[in-house]
Amino acid sequence: MNGKVKIGLMGLGTVGTGVVRLVESFQEDLFKQTGSSLEISRILIKNPDKKRSIYVHPDKLTTNPDDLIYDDEIEVVIEVMGGIEPARTYILEAFENGKHVVTANKDLLAAHGDELLRKAAEKGCDLFYEASVAGGIPILKTVVEGFSSDRITQIMGIVNGTTNYILTKMTQEGLPFEQVLREAQELGYAEPDPTSDVEGLDAARKMAILATLGFHVGMKWDDVACKGISEVTQEDIRYGKQLGYTMKLIGIAKRDDDCVEVSVEPTFVANSHPIANVNDVFNAVYVYGEAVGETMFYGPGAGELPTATAVLSDLVTVVKNSKLGINGREMAFPYHEKRLKSPEQIFAKYFVRLIVQDESGVLARIAKLMAENEISLEKVLQEPYGKEDAELIIVTHSASKASIERFLEEVQEFHIVKELKSCYRVEGGE
Ligand code: NDP
Ligand code: HSE
Repeated sequence: MNGKVKIGLMGLGTVGTGVVRLVESFQEDLFKQTGSSLEISRILIKNPDKKRSIYVHPDKLTTNPDDLIYDDEIEVVIEVMGGIEPARTYILEAFENGKHVVTANKDLLAAHGDELLRKAAEKGCDLFYEASVAGGIPILKTVVEGFSSDRITQIMGIVNGTTNYILTKMTQEGLPFEQVLREAQELGYAEPDPTSDVEGLDAARKMAILATLGFHVGMKWDDVACKGISEVTQEDIRYGKQLGYTMKLIGIAKRDDDCVEVSVEPTFVANSHPIANVNDVFNAVYVYGEAVGETMFYGPGAGELPTATAVLSDLVTVVKNSKLGINGREMAFPYHEKRLKSPEQIFAKYFVRLIVQDESGVLARIAKLMAENEISLEKVLQEPYGKEDAELIIVTHSASKASIERFLEEVQEFHIVKELKSCYRVEGGE
């Protein structure tokens, strides 16, 4: 790469707009760091009639991907369109034509990361995707480079800004789910199909990428046990508060004896844990290294400019690599065999909310069933529910996922149990 690096930008939505803004406003610093001026020479869009929030010269805009992929002057393609296809095909074609690629596309990485990395390496091209996880937090470089001298045993965090925004507003302001989701969409945090955010799929993709890089095991997004926040109610949140917990969508990746578990689920976090205070669109990722112990990374997890900074930092790395002649040599391929834990090997504390008949002996019968399933009780809360029933909230000590699943199935067979309202994982606390 010489004095001027030409870039093809695929997508001019929330993130693409941020990239254009930052390339323009940070031009001088970028030049000083890379020794090249960076120019976005073509921009691929879908709808030429759409009103844009920034001015772009009309000659730069195109609806034809070949104008970027087959332009010999373009050396780097930034893909911020989203989705699997046609993004996958365009990126593979870009590699075929010797172009380096920077992307923010976790859907694509979590499903086809291996294929893309191999093609990039085969063609001597870079493929970087810092923006795909935790928006503005440079967590992938941290995990790959910062922890290269350690052995990561656990990664836990809030990695979806939209759901954290929704849960924060539901918890602090008692606002309804639908209203807050609309706000998150207007702010550009949500995916084009917000089901990805709400049902935990976006976080599952990010956790698959983090676990792959952190544990050197090839994880796909469907290896992640995933549950979203659409069934979380104001009652759950209120009972959690009474017991000293805050509801968060938590991703957890753990490695024990070379077996891994990765999950994303609504989780009650003890208020004493710092992650309980990570609010709004902010993300936080805890990384536990065998040697270093606990570390925490915090920052905005979505949005135009935070995400664009992550894209640009990858772009700077591509240009620097080119100056050093090391493009295509930094690829991190998984080298451990994938062995997923069984439900018997996964341990956590749980919050269980049941509607039961309000009569003597009920708690004793439920406690006996728990003991039979090797589950011990940590906290119990009971409140009246209608005229004859009671709402029973139980927090367990650490128990296996298999035990809890068995208990939940068996307890619903008791005639004294009217309804299983909810069950959530609990993190933090004693
Ligand atoms: P947007 O929906 O805001 O923008 C998508 C852009 O891509 C639009 O400009 C659209 O064109 C263009 N586009 C989509 N499909 C095509 C196609 N087939 N051909 C040509 N152009 C196309 O998405 P975001 O900017 O929010 O997200 C982009 C990527 O970044 C996604 O992978 C997302 O997961 C990821 N990401 C997003 C974050 C955020 O905060 N929003 C944070 C981190 C990652 P047009 O404008 O003409 O419709
Ligand atoms: N929709 C995603 C989120 C964007 O809310 O976290 C950032 O990846």
